[in-house]
Amino acid sequence: MGKKSDWNPEQYLAYAGERTQPSIDLVSRINSVKPPALIADIGCGPGNSSLAIKQRWPDSELVGVDKSPAMIEKAKQDYPGQEWILSDVMNFTYNRKFDIVFSNAVIQWIPDHKNLFEKFFSLLSVGGIIAVQLPLFRDMELGMIISSVSRRSRWKKAMEGCAELFTYHDAGFYYDLLSEKLLKIDMWITDYIHVLPSHRGILDWIKTTGLKPYLDRLPDEQDRLSFGDEVLEDIKARYPLQADGKALLPFKRLFFIGYLQIP
Ligand SMILES: C[S@@+](CC[C@H](N)C(=O)[O-])C[C@H]1O[C@@H](n2cnc3c(N)ncnc32)[C@H](O)[C@@H]1O
Repeated sequence: MGKKSDWNPEQYLAYAGERTQPSIDLVSRINSVKPPALIADIGCGPGNSSLAIKQRWPDSELVGVDKSPAMIEKAKQDYPGQEWILSDVMNFTYNRKFDIVFSNAVIQWIPDHKNLFEKFFSLLSVGGIIAVQLPLFRDMELGMIISSVSRRSRWKKAMEGCAELFTYHDAGFYYDLLSEKLLKIDMWITDYIHVLPSHRGILDWIKTTGLKPYLDRLPDEQDRLSFGDEVLEDIKARYPLQADGKALLPFKRLFFIGYLQIP
């Protein structure tokens, strides 16, 4: 089995605009009567989601938390004035409570969502807000392609259990989990349509995120290239190119915002 690789912030930010739009949309729908004093961006990555938060509330204090050394390094380098903490969220503690616990495109990487939301609640101030977005990856054509290629005889053994590495539930699960403690919950799903330069653009998009755990199972670079090529062939078969040669990638995301007090 291959070694788990770190994230690659540069490749991740190759589509910074598309990857940050959900954070902008999520932050814009938070109903906070006064500017929050302290916000946590859990799984802040290279700081792009944190920037979206800072653009709405420039005077609020923000703490970015991420378990990837490469991502935290990049965030520190690009936004040196902020506090960036290298930590797995499950081990993260802080000496003050947060008015908002924000997490964009992260929780699908964390297996036990009951425990995770207990953690989020433990970080919240009285009257605090939880704001989350997660991609519904396995429900998308692209997620299905990757999982079906991984079941082919050449890859099956190495990739056993890979598809289960992503955890997410339906809106009802999160509603029941959160409504025990929160007084108001807003939920919605948005289908983004990302315009990518080509079929290879779709492969490059997913290489740094949804394809990463699969590639990590293959220690040999040649195998990783071959697996990527097989996924690319299926992408070509399922995503027709537009008249200008671009490829459209529909991408489904679940959002929810929960309030400990009615705003
Ligand atoms: C897809 S990136 C999202 C980055 C940024 N929030 C954004 O909106 O673009 C997912 C990030 O979650 C981080 N992550 C995954 N599991 C984590 C955990 N258990 N604790 C902290 N960070 C985690 C990864 O290291 C990665 O930087």
